Amino acid sequence: MGDRETGPYGPAVDETFLRGIPKAELHVHIEGTLEPEMMFGLARRNGVALAYASVEEAREAYDFADFQSFLDLYYEGMKVLLHERDFQDLTLAYLQKAAGQGVRHAEIFFDPQAHTDRGVPFETAITGIRKALVEGGRRMGLSSRLILCFLRHLSADEAMRTLQEALPYKGWISAVGLDSSEVGHPPKEFKEVFAEAARHGFLSVAHAGEEGPPEYIRQALDDLGAARIDHGVRCMEDSTLVERLREEQVPLTVCPLSNVRLRCFPSMQEHPAKRMLDEGLCVTVNCDDPAYFGGYVAENYAALREGLGFDRDNFRAVAENSFRASFLDETEKERRLHEVASYFEDQRGETAQPPGTASSRPPQI
Ligand code: ADE
Ligand code: ZN
Repeated sequence: MGDRETGPYGPAVDETFLRGIPKAELHVHIEGTLEPEMMFGLARRNGVALAYASVEEAREAYDFADFQSFLDLYYEGMKVLLHERDFQDLTLAYLQKAAGQGVRHAEIFFDPQAHTDRGVPFETAITGIRKALVEGGRRMGLSSRLILCFLRHLSADEAMRTLQEALPYKGWISAVGLDSSEVGHPPKEFKEVFAEAARHGFLSVAHAGEEGPPEYIRQALDDLGAARIDHGVRCMEDSTLVERLREEQVPLTVCPLSNVRLRCFPSMQEHPAKRMLDEGLCVTVNCDDPAYFGGYVAENYAALREGLGFDRDNFRAVAENSFRASFLDETEKERRLHEVASYFEDQRGETAQPPGTASSRPPQI
């Protein structure tokens, strides 16, 4: 770790500073926060056999040749999640980790079809997650939103059935999203499902332009009405699209470690995050599936510093963008933006609320 005043990245951009930046996390799959230690613990608790002999063996297997090889292990790992308590423990562990990294607000994806398809009721998953989110608000002052993702490798009809199942829990879900294997599953296939979700008052987001072409980003905006694009990194291949994203300030929830680990880019040095910021795009930085990709949000910030030379101004921009792009109300956004400003205006970042402490106002969930 570099010295705060004289370190290789200039003053006050060491790991402690990066962890302390007040930030929102807008792209994290709760199932992707299942660390091997917890996977083994839940396997024991639930009597589930795992494909790995040890935690170390599981970690060694996380060397992905491509996106599908990741998804195979991701769906395999979550088989240990059976009971409400499992979902609650998983979510609470993530919130604790996030709060320790300066996260004040988290918008969390869950994949109900990955659970209902193996016989775990929708209610079990969502109730466990919800209980942890309420507890996180109370204990850590961390506000949150829940986003239901449809698995795009399954059909639009199945997504529609999942939406119907979700309706009794509408009050707990802010938005719908679209994830899983992108190539060959364009957003437009889910147009009707998203229109129906909008009729019920859900906001929408969608993974697009991670592995798929820029055209999928356009479809996510035009056919699904996405308020944010998850990843969106392939927009840089299409200058007309870049212009639109800049003009409309469409938030892009970028996940650098994920993109490198899934071989979207050969190295962090070749990741477009810095060019995207320089183009005036609304870039936010997130962790995607931190248990599988080697780090939570602060490790993603550090990777951008090391790989792309992100400086204080860049970090301030992405932290501010994270709150602007969130589904918080305007008053909460202003409060959090003020917190970011005071953190950066104090060279040592010591006036801001330390990570993980309860806020002076009641938590918003
Ligand atoms: N599900 C979990 N992680 C994902 C990712 N990076 N892209 C698409 N679907 C996912
Ligand atoms: Zn994702």
